[in-house]
Amino acid sequence: MVPSRLDSPQARPIDLRSDAITTPTDSMWEAMRAADLGWASAGQDTLLVELEETVAKLAGKEKALYVLTGGMANLVALMTHTRRGDQVVLDSRSHILWCEEWGLSYICGLTARSVDGVRGQISPDAVVDAINDSLYRHRPRTSLLCLENPDNTFGEAADVGYVASVSNVAHELGASVHLDGARVLNACAALDVELHDMLAPVDSAMISLNKGLSAPGGAILVGTAEFISEARMNVRRLGGSSFHQCGIHAAAALVAFREMLPQLAEDNRRAAALAEALRHVTGVTVDQGRAPTNMVIVAPDPGLMSARGFVDGLETHGVLGYISGENTVRFVTHRHIGDDDIAHAAEAAAAVAESFAASNAKQPAIGT
Ligand SMILES: Cc1ncc(COP(=O)(O)O)c(C=O)c1O
Repeated sequence: MVPSRLDSPQARPIDLRSDAITTPTDSMWEAMRAADLGWASAGQDTLLVELEETVAKLAGKEKALYVLTGGMANLVALMTHTRRGDQVVLDSRSHILWCEEWGLSYICGLTARSVDGVRGQISPDAVVDAINDSLYRHRPRTSLLCLENPDNTFGEAADVGYVASVSNVAHELGASVHLDGARVLNACAALDVELHDMLAPVDSAMISLNKGLSAPGGAILVGTAEFISEARMNVRRLGGSSFHQCGIHAAAALVAFREMLPQLAEDNRRAAALAEALRHVTGVTVDQGRAPTNMVIVAPDPGLMSARGFVDGLETHGVLGYISGENTVRFVTHRHIGDDDIAHAAEAAAAVAESFAASNAKQPAIGT
């Protein structure tokens, strides 16, 4: 029997809002303290060089580039693949559109052609339609298709077959393909696929260091030597090239690639355990697809409680969730979440649902 956390509200919260809250591991702190730093912006930091070479090899691409944030890495990819005035095709719920669109429009001068995918996956036919629009001369030239794997709305991993089929049609129609792979290593773990196989069909990809990998910050952009050389110039144009002691981050990121990959599989496993436990809670519906990663999406029964009510109720039990849609709550597992936390989170969800059911039962029925 798991001791009830519900009785000890002073315990640290079980923070399931995002894997972006992860902090460096002890060995990352040690590596950062011991880091032999060079002048990174002059290309003289051996740790940064080692990190970029390591990730390029893992990703099966010619070169890699450390960028300060995942959002900036995506922005640099957009700048590098396109010309001002071009059109970019992307899923209507993608992070690049929802959270980074100001960069797409304000900095790159691009038009977003959003397409409703199914659980983040745009069909090859929809890509053809979106790109072919430009043949009628009313639409701008499409130079880029952006994919996201896993998608950040459902946490659904897309398999290599899908990534290849959709990338092929984009390439045939003259567009490059960039993959926002903030959590692509979770997708690889879920599907038991090597990173270089997953990324083989795409021209470039961004991989976050600061999510499940638990490094303190940054992302890696991978692609051809020519693409990365131009991307380096674009990082400079954005004012992002002078992180002079960036080797501190590189030291932590190298530890992440050496030690944290098995953790991502554990995070996926714990998300599956949470989904399974929540399926037994009356008053919430769990939404997980065929290839889930480290996210669990839950829809509270609107007749019982709102997403806000559910999240606020959970917080009183020391469990933090994230309102991800009008009536959905997202839980994300990561290295600070253990098996006991999963059990307690499910216990808290049941307690919240029960208390809403009890207080609703006390309300007089309308019209009587
Ligand atoms: C799918 C996806 N892409 C990009 C980003 C941006 O990464 P960063 O927070 O490092 O800018 C995030 C952040 O959560 C994300 O979930």
